[in-house]
Amino acid sequence: MPSFSDIANLLRPRFEDELFDFLRIPSISTLPEHKPDIARAAEFAKQQLLVAGLEAVELIEGSGHPLVYGEWLGAAGKPTVLLYGHYDVQPVDPLDQWDSPPFEPTVRDGQVYARGASDDKGQVLANIKALEALRQAHGELPVNVKFLIEGEEEVGGEMIASYVATNKERLAADAALVSDTAMYAAETPTICTGLRGMVYTEWLATGAERDLHSGLFGGVAPNAVFGLVELLAKCKDASGRVLIPGFYDRVREPSSAEKASWERIPFDEDKYRRTEVGASTLTGESGYSVFERLGARPTFEVHGIPGGFTGPGAKTVIPASAAAKVSARLVPDQDPEEILSLMQDFAAANAPAGIEVEVRLIHTAPATLAPTDHPAISTAARALEEVWGSETVFIRSGGSIPVVGDFQEHLGIPTALMGYGLPDDALHAPNEKFSLRNFHMGIASTARFLELLGQAERN
Ligand code: BES
Ligand code: MN
Ligand code: MN
Repeated sequence: MPSFSDIANLLRPRFEDELFDFLRIPSISTLPEHKPDIARAAEFAKQQLLVAGLEAVELIEGSGHPLVYGEWLGAAGKPTVLLYGHYDVQPVDPLDQWDSPPFEPTVRDGQVYARGASDDKGQVLANIKALEALRQAHGELPVNVKFLIEGEEEVGGEMIASYVATNKERLAADAALVSDTAMYAAETPTICTGLRGMVYTEWLATGAERDLHSGLFGGVAPNAVFGLVELLAKCKDASGRVLIPGFYDRVREPSSAEKASWERIPFDEDKYRRTEVGASTLTGESGYSVFERLGARPTFEVHGIPGGFTGPGAKTVIPASAAAKVSARLVPDQDPEEILSLMQDFAAANAPAGIEVEVRLIHTAPATLAPTDHPAISTAARALEEVWGSETVFIRSGGSIPVVGDFQEHLGIPTALMGYGLPDDALHAPNEKFSLRNFHMGIASTARFLELLGQAERN
C-alpha cells in the first residue's frame, strides 16, 4: 500500500496547479466590484473540500461574503479538529510595484508570487490537500474534521463571528487548527502562541460649516485637517507610548518563562531592521525588546487621512472636514470595547477648539493567547518537529485573526496556529509570495498533526 508521502509526491503537480487556479481568482473582499470573484473563490474552496472527500459541503450565505463548510465525521471515538482559513485577499495597490501581475501566479526561485499566495490561499489549500492525500493514502482520516473557510477575514467581517456564536453544536470540536501565520524563519518550525487583537476606527473631524478660502478666512476659521492632526499627535508621545488615559491598565505582562524563551531565539535586530522592515531605525516603546513590542505590547496607528485638497497643484482652502483611519492592536487582557470608549472620551476631551471629532467603530477583535500545555498545541509542535527535523519555536505574532477569539469564547477550544508562511512573504504588500516547498511541507505537517492526534486517543 502506498504511504502518505508516496501519495503526496504523486499528487504534487496537480496540487500546485490547483493552487495556481485558486490564486488566479481576484477575491479582494474590501472592493465591491470584486463580489463576483468572491463568489468564484467560495465556489472553488467548496469544490476543493469535495475533492478532499469532505461531506455536508455547503456555501453558507448571509449578510456578507459566503462561508464555506465541510466535514468528515467517520472516525468514531477519535478527536474532532476544526480547521479554518480564508479565501479572501487584500487589495493589490500599489500595482506598479509588482514584478509580475498579482493574479497571474508566477514561480521564481521556488516561490509562487501572487496576491493571497501566503495569506491565506496557499496555506488553507495546504490543509485541504493534507486531508485529500490522507484520504487517498488510507481511505479515511485519522480524526474527525470540520472545515470552515471565510471570505471576510481581511475586512473584519461579522459573518463568521455570528455563525460561530449560533452554531456551537455543529462546530463542536476538541481543538482548532489554523494555518494563517508565518514561521519565525525558513526551516524553523513555528507555533504562534499569541495574536494581537484590534480596535479599528474612523475619526471624523468637522470644523466650519463649509470649506473656506484660506486667504479670506485664514487666521479666524478652524481647519478640520489640522485639528485632527493636532488631536492625533496628542495620542502618542515621541517614545511610542500611547497617552490615552487607561490604555495600558489591563495589559498583562508576559510570564518570565515566556520572556526567557524569546531571549533564546536567535535574533539579529540590525538585520531585521534592514531586511524585513527596510527603515533607517526601529521605533516603539523604549525598554521593551522587539519581540515584546510586536507580541506583548499594544499599538496605536494611523492608516490614512483623507480630507481637504489632495489633487495635483495647489488649491487654497481651509477644509471643513477630515477623517482618519485609526487602529490599536491589543494584547491580553485589554478589552476592545473599553479601548474604544477610552478613544472616544479622549477625542471628545482633546479635540482643539472649533473642531468636533466623532470616533466610529469599524471592527474589533480580542487578543488571544494559546494554552501551550494543551495536548493539541504540544502535538502540533511534535508534528512540526518530526516533519521539519528541527525544534519547534513558540512565538507570538503581532497580527490578528479575529475568529481565533470566537473559537475560544463560543466553542471553548484552543487554536493551534501552525503557519507555513515565511517572514519575507510580503503579506498585504506588492510581490506577495509563498514558498512551494512550504506548501508541500505544510501538507505533510498538517497530515502528521492529524495522525498524531488520532493516535493519542488510542493509547
Ligand atoms: N493572516 C493574517 C494575520 C497574521 C499574519 C497573523 C501573519 C500572524 C502572522 C490575517 O489575514 C490578517 O491580515 N489579519 C488582519 C485582521 C484584521 C483585518 C481584522 C490584520 O492583522 O490586520
Ligand atoms: Mn490571513
Ligand atoms: Mn491578511
